Amino acid sequence: MVANILSDKTQYYLQLESQFGAHNYHPLPVVLERGEGVFVWDVDGKRYFDFLSGYSAINQGHCHPRIVNALVEQAKRLTLTSRAFHSNLLGEYEKFITEYFGYEKVLPMNTGVEGGETAIKLARRWGYVKKGIPDNQAKVIFAGGNFWGRTLAAISSSTDPASYKAFGPYMPGFEIVPYNDLAALEKAFQDTNVAAYMVEPIQGEAGVVVPDFGYLQGVRDLCNEYNVLFIADEIQTGLGRTGKMLACDHENVRPDILVLGKALSGGVLPVSAVLADDHVMMNIKPGEHGSTYGGNPLACAVAMEALKVLREEGMVENAAAMGLLLREELEKLESPFIRTVRGKGLLDAIVIEHSNKDAAWQLCLALKENGLLAKPTHGDKIRFAPPLVINEAQIKECVEIIHKSMDVLAS
Ligand SMILES: Cc1ncc(COP(=O)(O)O)c(C=O)c1O
Repeated sequence: MVANILSDKTQYYLQLESQFGAHNYHPLPVVLERGEGVFVWDVDGKRYFDFLSGYSAINQGHCHPRIVNALVEQAKRLTLTSRAFHSNLLGEYEKFITEYFGYEKVLPMNTGVEGGETAIKLARRWGYVKKGIPDNQAKVIFAGGNFWGRTLAAISSSTDPASYKAFGPYMPGFEIVPYNDLAALEKAFQDTNVAAYMVEPIQGEAGVVVPDFGYLQGVRDLCNEYNVLFIADEIQTGLGRTGKMLACDHENVRPDILVLGKALSGGVLPVSAVLADDHVMMNIKPGEHGSTYGGNPLACAVAMEALKVLREEGMVENAAAMGLLLREELEKLESPFIRTVRGKGLLDAIVIEHSNKDAAWQLCLALKENGLLAKPTHGDKIRFAPPLVINEAQIKECVEIIHKSMDVLAS
């Protein structure tokens, strides 16, 4: 067990949250007040490597000066118009992001889950207008183990009881197939009412589950064959995280609908986007979908800068190289407590081998004591996803911290 001694200051903030906030999260007992690049500092001034990066929202590193500058400068001019009026930045952003990713249109939203909801609405509408699915019969297929947020639609497609239990009734028209199983997908596609398959190219929250190489191409081929839209949820895997701009790029596959979020703002405000071509996007008419904050000028300025920074500062290439190094160094540890090291780029995880079901949590507490923040997912998996600006020396230092912290599992 880790001697988890918390300062009075830390305890004060934990107590405040516990008393006045809903208990819908179980955070590590650390209270952060500052961040820069790969580092965050707690209220006692202790420095940590951030190996979660806000669930991959902070790919560009904490408080990236260019992104913060874009935020501040735009905040002084104009922050929100609503979509009742135009802004001078919306069209510029739309041109920028559609050219960046090679789609004809974008629909801007805020959180990731709204991006997912938007993609599904687009797919259902396309199903009725273009595919000829009878009214209210459209089906969307999801993969078991998926995670795309907490709305009623998102939990309706979840296979995790912690997400869906006692929140029913659930959204109709959703079906689940096992992840990484093309035969099951093809079987589901026999139903001509299927409009779309929505899938993460690597399942993040499930514990960094990487499908077999060829799976994404297989999904693309089946979608073509059965006239089904391929929706890629790249909210966590996109924007350089896996060592390519998009995780789909590993197989050179182009989804029909691409959903982005998280690092689209570099972690400074919620910005999400749904990209598609006209045959999908233009079936939604004025008044049929939207959001007060979606496409606001502040978000437009920030997202353009966040995307420029990724490209201009070589973060995608760095993620590929540093991810390789991280997994190599973790493999070298040959720890009896690490069952598996897996991942792509800087979206990595270890699976803990231990008789104590709390072992991953205990290890994360030890990592925290030793200056590295990571969080278990689904009990025995720990995701390692630092900002993409991490360098070689820092990776080696972090693996040392992980190595040293493993001692806690031996006691
Ligand atoms: C793959 C994926 N999709 C969607 C979401 C939801 O994003 P948000 O929490 O911004 O709504 C998440 C969040 O973790 C995610 O990992």
